[in-house]
Amino acid sequence: MTSPDLPAELKAALDGKLRGFSRSDAAGRAATISKTYRDGGGSGGIRSENDALAYALARMPATYAAVTASLNALVEIRPDFAPTSLLDIGAGPGTATWAAAEAFPSLQRFALLDANDALRALALGLVTGSFRLRDVSYERGEARAALARADTADLVVASYMIGEISDGERRALAELMWEKTRDTLLVVEPGTPAGYARIIALREQLIAKGAHVAAPCPHDGKCPLQAPDWCHFTQRLQRSRAHKQIKGAELPFEDEKFAYVALTRTAVEGRRASRALAQPAVSKVEITAKLCTPAGLAIATIPRRAKAEYASARRWRWGDAVD
Ligand SMILES: C[S@@+](CC[C@H](N)C(=O)[O-])C[C@H]1O[C@@H](n2cnc3c(N)ncnc32)[C@H](O)[C@@H]1O
Repeated sequence: MTSPDLPAELKAALDGKLRGFSRSDAAGRAATISKTYRDGGGSGGIRSENDALAYALARMPATYAAVTASLNALVEIRPDFAPTSLLDIGAGPGTATWAAAEAFPSLQRFALLDANDALRALALGLVTGSFRLRDVSYERGEARAALARADTADLVVASYMIGEISDGERRALAELMWEKTRDTLLVVEPGTPAGYARIIALREQLIAKGAHVAAPCPHDGKCPLQAPDWCHFTQRLQRSRAHKQIKGAELPFEDEKFAYVALTRTAVEGRRASRALAQPAVSKVEITAKLCTPAGLAIATIPRRAKAEYASARRWRWGDAVD
């Protein structure tokens, strides 16, 4: 399992960039960027080096944690997956690339693409001191055009990106992303009902094109959840001092809610484990867990008297693949 916290090399590179960068300026810029995202806007307002740094400081640890949690779930289901090439779409400061490099020592080629000059420049600045990532290729351009020119890759990732484009554009991009995927496509979104809706639409679209779901769903069927319920997960990450300062936060950690889907060219073999869709409720009498099973949604009840099963269910966490 890869840690959800930024790797030391990335932290050091970010700290280097932050030297001399006023925390109050960063806080102001980060607040504007966050408000734009909350209001449904995109990353277009990130124009300068300082905007890009403020984004990285405010959001990169959380999106990194969400991508890492999704990759950990994928690795658990497909422990033999050893991609050698990565394509990171809407790469921004390179968050998903760093996460994938940590999760897969097998990765050798890293291709990133994004339309935002300031985020691209920051990403390239952050990788200069990294032995594995210093030779990344980073294409500047609109996702569809740049993707059309890109080589296929074993692992294709779009992290917190597909919410920034129109519905029609997203359908076309999804198809193109799948064409460029040799093995696995991972799409991660904020864990909101809207983020989930985008994931579920893309999932359905690509299953119709022959994709299989590796995670989080243990099946390729229709999502059994009914609105207002939605499938999402949460990942806790540590907050650095700088992060707390610019967010005006007291707590030393934050919980990032995210939704994701990992789609593969070949179906996962063997019996599929169920997925815990919420933190199981533990009482003295029983454990109650909301599970997505290969046969659909189930509320599992494990009585305390079933000692071994109860002990094992006590370890279940929201998002886990459970047997
Ligand atoms: C919220 S940021 C996420 C960045 C990064 N993937 C992460 O997880 O931290 C969204 C990124 O998608 C990029 N993006 C949005 N629409 C795009 C498009 N049509 N073409 C290329 N990049 C796009 C933005 O420039 C931005 O870098």
